[in-house]
Amino acid sequence: MKSKKPFVWAHRGASGYCPENTLAAFKKAVEMNADGIELDVQLTSDGEMVICHDEEVDRTSNGKGWIKDMTFEAVRSLDFSYGKNEYRGAKIPTLREVFELIKPTKLLINVELKTGIVFYPGIEKKVIELTEEYDFMDRVIFSSFNHYTVKKIKELRPNAKCGFLYMDGTIDMPEYGKKHGIDALHPALYNLQFPGFMEDCFRNNLEVNVWPVNEEEHIALCCEAGVNAIITDYPDKASAFIGSMFETKQQI
Ligand code: G3P
Ligand code: MG
Repeated sequence: MKSKKPFVWAHRGASGYCPENTLAAFKKAVEMNADGIELDVQLTSDGEMVICHDEEVDRTSNGKGWIKDMTFEAVRSLDFSYGKNEYRGAKIPTLREVFELIKPTKLLINVELKTGIVFYPGIEKKVIELTEEYDFMDRVIFSSFNHYTVKKIKELRPNAKCGFLYMDGTIDMPEYGKKHGIDALHPALYNLQFPGFMEDCFRNNLEVNVWPVNEEEHIALCCEAGVNAIITDYPDKASAFIGSMFETKQQI
């Protein structure tokens, strides 16, 4: 096992406990002493940066439709409690509101730009400008499944920390990441099993931040592999399990 504990980032906030991507979920992540939060950014028709995983509001709210076609006022009027009664009335947050919430803390923020389906015009510049307004460039890592978006961020701000998100079945990802000058790979968990994958990442100076990591056996795999961070729905359980793994190691 590597000597460094992986950081614990709360996936869509502490989404195992609260409606995903709501202020309640991000507050819970802070209360649970997560090292960071991960969130998904979309743009409304009038250009507001809002936090929602899906391009449409149907799954997580009581409304219907594409965020790109709705004004902020319209999307804000919906209930995002997502079947959890104690959170009834939860509103879609803006990126600014999450930044305000996180400002007094030391948490890192993984801003995932959801441009895989809708190519929101100008979203990269907007996200950078808000990050700079909050003086957060050193505590934000930008990622996207759309690697053109990640490249755009790097073009606009070469020093911005960026990661390529991807699923599975790819080869040569570390070389590809290095070639495009990015800082991290954000692979789906299963990629850790590919032969030589972590060594290739280390050799290319790439951080590895893995998702989704909720099961103990998967957390253990990440600790063994020496990843930089795990992205989990249960930050409290993940931190406790990582703590116990490293305690056991010290006793051996
Ligand atoms: O950023 C890690 C993870 O959130 C990527 O997948 O679909 O949950 O946004 P998804
Ligand atoms: Mg995400």
